[in-house]
Amino acid sequence: FVGFFLPKRPFVDIWLITLLSPIVFMLCCLPNLPASEVPSKAKVVWEKFSSQTNFERDTYFYGTFPENFTWGVSSSAYQVEGGWDADGKGPSIWDNFSHVPGNIKNGDTGDIACDSYNKVEEDVYLLRALGVKNYRFSLSWSRIFPSGRNNSINSHGIDYYNRLIDGLVANNITPIVTLYHWDLPQALQDIGGWESSALIDLFDSFADFCFQTFGDRVKFWITFNEPQVIAWAGYGAGTLPPNVNDPGSAPYRVAHILLKAHARVYHTYDDKYRASQGGVIALCPNIDWVEPKTPSDPRDIEAADRYLQFLVGWFTHPIFKNGDYPEVMKWKVGNRSELQNLPSSRLPVFTAEERDYIRGTADVFCFNSYTSKIVTHSTTRSWPSSAITEYGNPPIYIIENGVGIKTKSDVDDNTRIFYYKTYIDEALKAYKLDGVNLRGYNAWSFMDSFEWLNGYDPRFGLHQVDFDNPNRPRTPKRSAVYYAEIIRNNGIPLPKEDEFLYGEFPKNFWWSVATAAYQVRKPRWTLKVYVDRLSIWDQFSHTPLKISNDDTGDVACDSYHKIEADVEMLKSLKVSHYRFSISWSRVLPDGTTRYINEMGLNYYERLIDALLAANIMPQVTLYHWDLPLALQNVGGWENDTIVQRFKEYAELLFQRLGDKVKFWITFNEPYNTAYSPYVVGHNLIKAHAEAWHLYNETYRAKQGGLISITINSDWAEPRNPYNQEDIDAARQYVQVQRHAVTALPAAPGFVRGGTPSLGAGDAQNPGQLPEFTESEKQRIKGTYDYFGLNHYTTVLTYKINYPAVTDRSWLNSGSIWLKVTPFGFRKLLRWIKEEYNNPPIYVTENGVSERGDLDFNDTWRMHYYRSYVNEALKAVVLDGVDLRGYTAWTLMDNFEWAVGFDEKFGFYHVNFTDPELRRHPKASARYYAQIINCNGFPDPATGPHPCLELEPEGKPCSRNPACVCISL
Ligand SMILES: *[C@@H]1O[C@H](CO)[C@@H](O)[C@H](O)[C@H]1NC(C)=O
Ligand SMILES: *[C@@H]1O[C@H](CO)[C@@H](O)[C@H](O)[C@H]1NC(C)=O
Ligand SMILES: *[C@@H]1O[C@H](CO)[C@@H](O)[C@H](O)[C@H]1NC(C)=O
Ligand SMILES: *[C@@H]1O[C@H](CO)[C@@H](O)[C@H](O)[C@H]1NC(C)=O
Repeated sequence: FVGFFLPKRPFVDIWLITLLSPIVFMLCCLPNLPASEVPSKAKVVWEKFSSQTNFERDTYFYGTFPENFTWGVSSSAYQVEGGWDADGKGPSIWDNFSHVPGNIKNGDTGDIACDSYNKVEEDVYLLRALGVKNYRFSLSWSRIFPSGRNNSINSHGIDYYNRLIDGLVANNITPIVTLYHWDLPQALQDIGGWESSALIDLFDSFADFCFQTFGDRVKFWITFNEPQVIAWAGYGAGTLPPNVNDPGSAPYRVAHILLKAHARVYHTYDDKYRASQGGVIALCPNIDWVEPKTPSDPRDIEAADRYLQFLVGWFTHPIFKNGDYPEVMKWKVGNRSELQNLPSSRLPVFTAEERDYIRGTADVFCFNSYTSKIVTHSTTRSWPSSAITEYGNPPIYIIENGVGIKTKSDVDDNTRIFYYKTYIDEALKAYKLDGVNLRGYNAWSFMDSFEWLNGYDPRFGLHQVDFDNPNRPRTPKRSAVYYAEIIRNNGIPLPKEDEFLYGEFPKNFWWSVATAAYQVRKPRWTLKVYVDRLSIWDQFSHTPLKISNDDTGDVACDSYHKIEADVEMLKSLKVSHYRFSISWSRVLPDGTTRYINEMGLNYYERLIDALLAANIMPQVTLYHWDLPLALQNVGGWENDTIVQRFKEYAELLFQRLGDKVKFWITFNEPYNTAYSPYVVGHNLIKAHAEAWHLYNETYRAKQGGLISITINSDWAEPRNPYNQEDIDAARQYVQVQRHAVTALPAAPGFVRGGTPSLGAGDAQNPGQLPEFTESEKQRIKGTYDYFGLNHYTTVLTYKINYPAVTDRSWLNSGSIWLKVTPFGFRKLLRWIKEEYNNPPIYVTENGVSERGDLDFNDTWRMHYYRSYVNEALKAVVLDGVDLRGYTAWTLMDNFEWAVGFDEKFGFYHVNFTDPELRRHPKASARYYAQIINCNGFPDPATGPHPCLELEPEGKPCSRNPACVCISL
């Protein structure tokens, strides 16, 4: 319970939907559409996503893509080929640039790169192993035309691409070929590069040659990869070759030429090759994704929209809309040029003829996007001219998407797996939920490669390449195995074990809800007067800066004065049991039996009577963390004498309440009480054992109840299921929580076969476990009637004693430590069954928190209970776990220890600013009541089920007792 903030989920997780949808809206699709305005239709998208709840945004989604969906990986020539001057290849601007010391990080060059020029067979083999359906690569212009012109044709270069293409086709892998991925022949740079309109003809002649040579097998062409980078980084900022630094006008001039060159090549393909070859051709701009700072502010949306129009519209507006630049761009650049007293706009003007020529020159649209750490995602939209009228929802291909990690070696690349796990899931949501017509997805990149200015660091590959080894050996990373599995499954199908199970719990299953004394019921005691009656939590919460907002439990929900209101809530929940704890210092103000506070005891008697009158059985926790301060002042749990004190306290409660209470919990979560030193755990266990024996010998015969201890346990999964270290760490994580305090050697008897093999202690305190004596062990052994379990979440472990991590795709809650991981609940229950010889189990806490603005429609919590309770049902029905009862945490929002009132777990909202502390049900209250009423989940196929029909809510309080706003 140490979380103080809920980190905002990075927006990149919702990348695809937010990225695609504005584009889909913006580039509405008819060939001669009116020019885009700002704000464009795309703003609908930001507005839509700004009103989305975190739950809707973050829930992991399962499903598969259509059968003909194409999965691939991507690369580009200069980044992987090497062989920079092999067999007559001419130099490119990138060869020359990287040869100048200081230009590239670590002095790296692409001279050898991954040596793919010499590794066609190896590369094709790896692609086959991945199971991809396409491979996107680029052609090196100067490898085919060393001088850039078709008067010098290098047959070795052509051979290389033929071998690659043939290898792909032979293995049913579709080649997707980029004609220009930044590596201009140096000879053409020497005549002015893309600033020279001579390049239009020269590029066309190169493309023409490629269509003629490879087009019988290549059916998917991309003219330019990221033309804005070519124009801006190459000619504006000048960071990339040819390093022209002329931000004012060169990028506009270059883009003008790139657009014309693209259109020319498109028409060449259209006129000469399309009929016989039948492929598609496109251009791939890039987008730096932009989020409006305040999504609810229309001005921010407009700014984001304008940014997008400038960045993407620069190239896509002419091609997909009307042959011309976006109006906002013409207007802005023109205005500025005028202010600068220039004779004409820095943005060149297309003639009417040119506009006609450029408009509609793409069958496919794609884009890439970069964020600071993450990187290229891009999409392509296919644009077959035969279906023009249906272009409201064009087919889309994602050509690059991936993540770079700065590391020497990342074969065990968990981060990348999480990246793909969440990004591909967003692609799936876009396809399934938003109806985006997604047809393909390509990961960037096939293998670690030359990452331009960054050299070989960071790495983006699904395969690791050892750049220190002359053979450039490739090793599949774990992400490659993961991606191959996604391809094999054609998406992310719901795992069999996660399928929802309809059915009922056993008859007499206990349904309960829990609270704890300090968290809900504290009378309005004045500190000074009652200083001898305080608990350690009173003191702690009154120490400045210990609790969020300096909240205290002084009043909390004032349950001390609201028995009737609380019982009403329990009745509407339809629980059979109610778990609460007794405040030791309320009953015994100084912790000892020297003085019994009859008024305090009487409160519990009245509460229990009210419960029994409502046919709700009490489940009573003796100790839920609020030790009397007077005992803490003589050493608390570190002082041996506390064992006797606790036994006396327990005996008083057995005597006075035991005829009505049939279910006792000695300690709640001793592990949390006993972080260190271990002597605390020792005394807790001994105190538990003494209370248990006392009950067993003196009270059980006539009272006939159950008594045990309840522990908290997360489930742990190994971060990498193939790594023994991680597996061991997961096992230890689960064992430590149980054994360190409750089960140490043989205590309290759950341990199968006697002694657990814990080794040297736990993560907090290695090697400090004190031994129990032989007679202590005998005394502790077997002191349980059931296995009490508090469970909330799952962690991933790696290496023993390392902090646990979580999976990025797991749903968050209001508490940083609590991820919604229902699958772990069933696994833990099954583990307890196996490990402890099938004990009767009572789940004594399970629930989820929220933070922030109040929402009575707590979908998030309903989802949690639905899925967790369903996993419990599977444990009972499918795994034969002897689960006897389930308890939700918690009845109402209350004092959540160190986080005060910030994290809310309740079925009922408590208005803490209202002096009456009124309680109001959230939607989950009704939902839980429904589960209880049906004793599980009736199959809709066999409906209708009357158990689902609860009394309607929302009537005025006077007529609806279920609506709790009674003030006492
Ligand atoms: C893929 O299949 C769907 C129907 O399942 C069809 O509508 C679509 O045209 C196909 N796409 C391609 C690229 O073949
Ligand atoms: C332990 O508690 C007893 C009272 O129960 C007290 O007399 C004694 O001084 C305490 N010991 C320590 C070390 O505080
Ligand atoms: C519990 O009490 C019963 C009856 O007195 C006794 O037979 C049994 O041995 C006790 N259990 C333990 C573990 O001491
Ligand atoms: C509660 O939220 C869900 C999901 O956000 C929505 O579908 C439902 O209509 C909402 N219910 C009410 C009563 O507002």
